[in-house]
Amino acid sequence: MILKRVIKGWLMIALVISILLPSTYFAQTAYADMQPHPEKPLDKNNLEKPMSVQNVERLNNGVKLDLGKQEAYIRVLSSDTAKVSLLNKGDKEENTVGIAKTDWPTSKFKVNKSNKKIVITTNSLTIDIKQKPFGIKFLDKNGKTINEDANQGMGYENGKPYVFKKTDKSENFYGIGEKTDGLNKRGKEEAVWHQDPFPYEAKYGYSSVPFFIGLNDKKAYGILFDTTWRSYYNFAKESDDYYYFYADSGKLTYYFINGPKMKDVINRFTDLTGKMQMPPEWALGFQQSSWGYHQNDVEQVAKEYRDKKIPLDGLMLDIEWMDDYKNFTWGSNFPDPNGMNKTLKDLGLHYTTIIDPAIRVPDPGQPEYAPYTEGTQKDLWVKNPDGSNFLGKVWPWGVPSKSVFPNFLKKDTRDWWAQQHKAMFDKGADGVWNDMNEPVNFSEEDHWTLPLDRIFEADDGSKYTHEEVHNIYPFLEDQATNEAFKRLKPNTRPFVLTRSLYTGAQRYTTATWTGDNHSNWDHLKMSISQDANVGLTGFPFVGNDIGGFSKNKELGEECTPELFARWVEVGSFLPLSRDHYNNDGKSPSTTESYMQRQEPWQFGKQVEDISRKYINMRYELMPYLYNAFKSAHETGNLILQPLVYRFQDDANTHNTEDQFMFGNSIMIAPVLTQGATSRNVYLPDGAKWIDYWTGAEYKGGQTISKQADLGTLPIYVKKDSIIPSRDDVQQHTGEKPLTNLTLDTYLDHKATYSYYQDDGISEDYIKGQYNLTDIKVGKIGRTTVFSADQKINRYHSDLKSYTLKLHDAKDPKLVIGGLKKYTKVSNLKDLDEKSRGYYFDSAEKILYVKIPVSGHTKVIIH
Ligand code: GLC
Repeated sequence: MILKRVIKGWLMIALVISILLPSTYFAQTAYADMQPHPEKPLDKNNLEKPMSVQNVERLNNGVKLDLGKQEAYIRVLSSDTAKVSLLNKGDKEENTVGIAKTDWPTSKFKVNKSNKKIVITTNSLTIDIKQKPFGIKFLDKNGKTINEDANQGMGYENGKPYVFKKTDKSENFYGIGEKTDGLNKRGKEEAVWHQDPFPYEAKYGYSSVPFFIGLNDKKAYGILFDTTWRSYYNFAKESDDYYYFYADSGKLTYYFINGPKMKDVINRFTDLTGKMQMPPEWALGFQQSSWGYHQNDVEQVAKEYRDKKIPLDGLMLDIEWMDDYKNFTWGSNFPDPNGMNKTLKDLGLHYTTIIDPAIRVPDPGQPEYAPYTEGTQKDLWVKNPDGSNFLGKVWPWGVPSKSVFPNFLKKDTRDWWAQQHKAMFDKGADGVWNDMNEPVNFSEEDHWTLPLDRIFEADDGSKYTHEEVHNIYPFLEDQATNEAFKRLKPNTRPFVLTRSLYTGAQRYTTATWTGDNHSNWDHLKMSISQDANVGLTGFPFVGNDIGGFSKNKELGEECTPELFARWVEVGSFLPLSRDHYNNDGKSPSTTESYMQRQEPWQFGKQVEDISRKYINMRYELMPYLYNAFKSAHETGNLILQPLVYRFQDDANTHNTEDQFMFGNSIMIAPVLTQGATSRNVYLPDGAKWIDYWTGAEYKGGQTISKQADLGTLPIYVKKDSIIPSRDDVQQHTGEKPLTNLTLDTYLDHKATYSYYQDDGISEDYIKGQYNLTDIKVGKIGRTTVFSADQKINRYHSDLKSYTLKLHDAKDPKLVIGGLKKYTKVSNLKDLDEKSRGYYFDSAEKILYVKIPVSGHTKVIIH
């Protein structure tokens, strides 16, 4: 229903609310819960009567089914992916903006029709369509049912598209974005409609990804409910026998992806919705920010990181950089952006500026604000139903300012928005941080976003309500920001950090973080399943504010030294590693704030040392991490992986949410409980595990207890792994060229690694300018053979040598490579100076073999 509002009345209410509320955003108790508009329940008594197939038409990639008043299209996109649409007769099939790929090559498939059913068969999937009543069943190539419509089937209830599916007790569900309610969604109700959640643990979070994975009997499949409308998911909460999903309105379209491995599902899902771009390497380094930093704080903090020898790659500028919260303008808190840029760049640092979508309307008497004037002239704003510009408010909190909201549905708006970034890029900014892009409008009566009936006009003149556009608003803003990089920083990889996101955002943004978490142990714990589920919805570059962003004083929340230490231990192994905290907009160096500072050295020497130790480790592992990003870019592979993702055959991993894989080979089992100095660690079945600190080896499929005092992060390496790393710690990713690559090798039988290298900053990798080397280390009897094959060599690398670092090794009798005998040296320093040779550390039982890089290298260790 279109809600009619009188703007004047609305402004009065906004004025009263803002006068009544204190000027802080987070600290007050009067701050009402942010909840979206009431849900629209599905009336189960009003579901459609069972339909039957009256006619079948074969299409070039599937079938069209006549169901009487409706028709269904089932299209085979690839041998393991199908698109299902149920439409009122005459309606056209649709894709939301989330879909990146629509031109699928026609797959081979067969259609067989009998009295009872129509069967579509591909190489790996059978789609069994029951004619009466109409229903769809997906089977794998062995004829095993993977997923099947429940009796309620699918249809529209009072305009709401719905689908019911059968399930049984052994099925689990994952995905659906960064929700705060744990890893496995079975038995839970979820919904997709992003908001700035308050409290943080609200049902509705910052992201909108209507995609989930079902895992049953060791087999995974994925379903993308391709709708921009608010949607709901009942994952067998109502009944053990079925689950269902529906949306407030729109057409019924879903994509079905058969695994059977979760990684296959994600790979295909990210073919459909897009792969992430390679991020600039600096974005993988540690980042620091605070809501409150002024220029002097930024410079001071930057220097302090260098003085204290804690690696850092980036600083992020929060809303204080702007002139009175006006996007694209520098204000007096940053009097000399050029000078700051020079200081930061001299220290090898990159910086990112925050942007909020709202554009402020200058108050009467205030100077002209060009972005507002220009955007108004070009007619780029979201409208009221009567055609006037919608006025809302964002920053500053507590004063009756007015803002317009860009209508990113229009290409003109996105182009114009992209161009505005010149203001930051001209001053050297390297990244853009899109915040408040749900979009937030500080109006309680409108549930903290724009009223649902506000109008977005599309390029073709058609009009959409905010209700339909809401979930894709951040996606469209991010698309425009990505465009800013393409235009204004050609051949430089974008860094776009976004708070809110919609399916497919990974192709326009770089990273996301899980918003305003709090400094408490529960939020540290839940961050792991949040990140895991973001990864499982196709978005691998994710992190959480290390130490916690907010502090609820009434609950006594505080970032204690212990909490920070445990958080930085985890945080150093997140895809996005950023320490960010709320100083309530006040410069930490000049104002006595009720908030506490949260840079790693604010907690005493012990915590500073712990921070340095783990951030250093991240930098040592940078080649491994960078390669994990490469695999995310190519296949959607997760960087932070829940155990179930890598070990889905082991049912003990299905609910494990306090451990994760950092890339394919390293398992992190952090201490997440206050006061704890030990924890139980589950070692997944199907692998042998090495305790990273002690070298002790364990069989998989068991739980062990690990002592972990403050400063010890339990880390385990999967045996038969090669982990490329650097032996020198850099203070930032671009400090020193990589000349020697250490290959930490934990060998049982055979380990392989495909090592990728490029320039880390430009888009030349897309044109093929990179190196790829296949590395193998294997045991044949008592002999170990190392080989490195340069498959692609189109990037000029500084790499001169590898150091094979073989753990649990024996002192070799002979090491030969390229018909040359390698000489033995007596310490690592001597080995450093040689171009080839080996050293055996008998105390640690580690063999180091220094091997020069060449096109094809083979070294035999007897
Ligand atoms: C929002 C962001 C937070 C930022 C603050 C001020 O709360 O989530 O990261 O510091 O706004 O811009």
